[in-house]
Amino acid sequence: MPSALPASPADTSTTTTLVHAPSARTSEWWRSAVIYQIYPRSFADASGDGIGDLPGITGRLKHLARLGVDAVWLSPFYRSPQHDAGYDVADYRDVDPLFGTLDDFDEMLTKAHALDIRVIVDLVPNHTSTEHVWFGQALAAAAGSPDRARYIFRDGKGPDGAEPPNTWTSVFGGPAWTRITDPDGSPGQWYLHLFDETQPDLDWDNPEVRTEFEQVLRFWLDRGVDGFRVDVAHGMVKAEGLPDWTGTSSMIDGAHEGTSGSEDGSTGAGNQGPMWDQEGVHEIYRSWHQVLAEYDGDRCLVAEAWVEPLSRLARYVRPDEMHQAFNFSFLTTLWDARALRSVVNASLEANDEVGAPTTWVLSNHDVVRHASRLGLEVPGSKPNGIGEGDPQPDEELGLRRARAATLLMLGLPGSAYLYQGEELGLPEHTSLADDERQDPTWWRSEHTERGRDGCRVPLPWSAEEPGYGFSPTGSTWLSQPDSFARYALDVQRGTPGSTYEVYRSALRLRREFSLGTGSLAWVDGLPADAESTVLAFVNREVLVVTNFGPGTLRLPADLELLHASQDLPLAEDDAVLVPADTTVWARLRA
Ligand code: GLC
Repeated sequence: MPSALPASPADTSTTTTLVHAPSARTSEWWRSAVIYQIYPRSFADASGDGIGDLPGITGRLKHLARLGVDAVWLSPFYRSPQHDAGYDVADYRDVDPLFGTLDDFDEMLTKAHALDIRVIVDLVPNHTSTEHVWFGQALAAAAGSPDRARYIFRDGKGPDGAEPPNTWTSVFGGPAWTRITDPDGSPGQWYLHLFDETQPDLDWDNPEVRTEFEQVLRFWLDRGVDGFRVDVAHGMVKAEGLPDWTGTSSMIDGAHEGTSGSEDGSTGAGNQGPMWDQEGVHEIYRSWHQVLAEYDGDRCLVAEAWVEPLSRLARYVRPDEMHQAFNFSFLTTLWDARALRSVVNASLEANDEVGAPTTWVLSNHDVVRHASRLGLEVPGSKPNGIGEGDPQPDEELGLRRARAATLLMLGLPGSAYLYQGEELGLPEHTSLADDERQDPTWWRSEHTERGRDGCRVPLPWSAEEPGYGFSPTGSTWLSQPDSFARYALDVQRGTPGSTYEVYRSALRLRREFSLGTGSLAWVDGLPADAESTVLAFVNREVLVVTNFGPGTLRLPADLELLHASQDLPLAEDDAVLVPADTTVWARLRA
């Protein structure tokens, strides 16, 4: 049991239920790390072309050190035609000129390490770009040749092969197959692409593909990276014979309104098709685990796998496979005390079972920012982008809840992921002009899904400069909303109560109290009958309380307030008052 529990307020009695003991394994850094996602094209631009780059990141590393993160994960900066913002890789061993050079990468890595910040890079093994040399060779070669066999080429159906080989659809909308034209000009075979047609899927049954990616891992490990975030880690192996499936797949699948938070963390959503979560993927991760184990320094693999329930996801982080997996069940849970409690329980239980740390995440480059999701009519629901004419989030309420959600998350034991800009409380850009959109989702869905550009807008560093200081020329690859002026870093830094300072203090306290390797015991009865409006737990000696409202909650007077997501009203006695949509961290007075 935790060593210290909060005293009961006079009018109620509390009970505690331990669901996770302090971690015995604390030596590996990734078990408790706070990892900050950098989306390179939108973080900071040094060259002035309006697109963020590696020198831009290097120049801003001190911001991250001051914020107090343990590591960064960089979305792809490799050579790419950028049809899916770099998740379409043409050369896995080089930096795209948009972002700089390999020397720029090395410099960034050295400086990050000097500041005690570890660096994780993105690996995109499910598909390459159509501009990868292998795909060029495949197009030039004959059907059935070894050059074609690195991808998934099939003959079409129907008398003249004019129908796609099966019924699969792309995650971005439209068919998952594209027919090629043979070198002699005649219609040829079809190739599979679970994403955009410029992202052909590799055939992971081909040993050459496996060897190549082990070498890519070594290339970056030799340069000194601390780990890899593995893109679409549940998609690389497809069911034998590619059987027809007429379901649809969607990114980060999870909560469908009101269905979130069942006992096992499952939302009953899609992504059950024969292209996802096949048994064969695990063998790949076992071999990669061995590669990483040859290197010193606890290098790690992080799975991006839209797999449910959580017990199924935990299979990716068994002791001889990957080290972490993104907890999208948490991300997609609605703003609801009971639902959040059940997903936290399911997460800890599933990961404890395999001895892996649980991760927590609220935002990334594929979803509407949580400051906006939590201001929607169904708070926490996940539209695929928001644009003009769509229901707009309540910005103030969304931010208030986002800060509460973040303090709840950072109070939990395990590793936490932050997405660039959330430390500023950035909202989604919900009125971006449709003709500026660059996410292939927008046109592949025939303009029914706005997609992900709204969470990818270049960061505001200073309120008074053109482009809010993102680039020396003021140019930005997507336009920024006017509201970014009030979110800029320079107006928040040193301002008590700003979102940035709330994050910074939270990270400092999280480290000071070793919450990342800590425990979790639910505290009920604060006050009695509040299980649908209050979430309270103890991690080591820290009591974390989130009030989902609508009323104000009064905590016992013998608590010392450590941190709060908002300014708190003052009580006449010494009690801590927690208004709606607020999280506080407190501990027993010594
Ligand atoms: C992952 C990435 C996403 C990308 C997709 C295809 O889900 O996070 O941004 O579009 O993979 O590579």
